[in-house]
Amino acid sequence: MEFLSFTKTMMMMIMMIAMMCSMAKSELINVGGGKYGWVPGNNLTQWALNQHFYVNEWLYFGYDRHLFNVLEVNKTSYENCIDQGFIKNVTGGAGRDVFQLTEAKTYYFLSGGGFCSQGMKVAVPVTEYVAPAPAPAAHKSGAASYASNFQIYHALVVLILISMCTSILG
Ligand SMILES: *[C@@H]1O[C@H](CO)[C@@H](O)[C@H](O)[C@H]1NC(C)=O
Ligand SMILES: *[C@@H]1O[C@H](CO)[C@@H](O)[C@H](O)[C@H]1NC(C)=O
Ligand SMILES: *[C@@H]1O[C@H](CO)[C@@H](O)[C@H](O)[C@H]1NC(C)=O
Repeated sequence: MEFLSFTKTMMMMIMMIAMMCSMAKSELINVGGGKYGWVPGNNLTQWALNQHFYVNEWLYFGYDRHLFNVLEVNKTSYENCIDQGFIKNVTGGAGRDVFQLTEAKTYYFLSGGGFCSQGMKVAVPVTEYVAPAPAPAAHKSGAASYASNFQIYHALVVLILISMCTSILG
């Protein structure tokens, strides 16, 4: 009996983790905002200024697959709109591409076919996620201290989940 309930608990935990992983995975950042943000004439520099990008997040490029593509390039190529000698061809063929931001650095993307000079390029500065620091403990009521402890636990759980999801889903 005891073994059975242990198995049940394990099953529930695995299901919960799978659910949370798929939730985490579905949190994509739509490049340019909206479903089809990867288009000429959309000021992606302006768009990126209003975003925060954290390690392990995913970018989503939605666009017309007949016209555009997505290439990861270096800074020089980004600045000069050079689509030769790119770092990575992100283009999948369906006009719906995802890209995981695995490192804390600035990533550069552009579209080939001359569309880069029409504004289809974006620099994505990625930072490590840092949980907001709690206020000093001495000046807090019980409730406030409970709240900040809760925040710390929450941040920890999220961190653990992210690393679990990353190792499970690659
Ligand atoms: C896009 O936005 C940036 C930042 O606000 C600005 O400096 C730049 O001139 C804009 N580019 C165009 C083509 O409007
Ligand atoms: C960036 O990529 C271009 C094209 O492959 C290459 O010619 C250039 O040397 C690279 N620049 C740097 C700083 O790596
Ligand atoms: C990038 O990959 C896609 C899909 O494999 C391919 O159709 C396309 O020609 C590639 N683009 C470049 C510039 O290599």
